Amino acid sequence: MTVIAIDGPAASGKSSVATRLARRMGFAHVNSGAMYRAVTWEILRQQLDIVLPEQIEAAVQRMSVDSGFSESGDSFIRINSELPDIELQTLEVNQSVSSVASIASVRNLVNSQLHNLARQRPIVSEGRDIGSVVFPDTPHKFYLDATPEIRRQRRASQGQDDAIEQRDLLDSTRAHAPLKVASGAHVIDTSHLTLEGVVDKIVETLALSGLHPA
Ligand code: DC
Repeated sequence: MTVIAIDGPAASGKSSVATRLARRMGFAHVNSGAMYRAVTWEILRQQLDIVLPEQIEAAVQRMSVDSGFSESGDSFIRINSELPDIELQTLEVNQSVSSVASIASVRNLVNSQLHNLARQRPIVSEGRDIGSVVFPDTPHKFYLDATPEIRRQRRASQGQDDAIEQRDLLDSTRAHAPLKVASGAHVIDTSHLTLEGVVDKIVETLALSGLHPA
């Protein structure tokens, strides 16, 4: 199993970097945040109250979930036969996803999908706990960060309404698998680097540990 773990706070550049890095390495790209968003979207669709974890636990037990890879090499997740896409970036999902992701049964569900995908192909997986909890044994761990101003600007330039500092606070203080720098992770401040600059840095670091493009 080969996993490159990319963790970091919201709008630190993870998705762009992970997508580009996966193409450069010839690996598949697995966006774990999209999985938490998909579960959140389904919970909102069922009009459940996110402040009642028992309701969410029960809904998770009933969910039929499967994931795989599209032809482009990106992972997808299907929930109760639906394949949500742009719905995952809505304000409603942004506002609820951190609460839903703090529930242990939701994390177990996503983690089992991530392990299943990693058994099929070499992956670049991005999230909050990929290097610390989901794949702690991978030697290829990176933690991307950027100043709060730059991260706010990035979200605004994507036209997204997203209270990133509030999400980061919830994500880094929750009981289960909080956002943190995994032991052994290479920390990269992306504030003043280009996308290609970050990817180059990671590819160079991987080469030093003997991991080369497929
Ligand atoms: O990467 P993102 O911003 O799309 O992630 C959305 C939310 O999902 C994030 O605020 C917290 C949660 N998440 C998580 O708890 N663990 C992960 N590995 C990935 C995302």
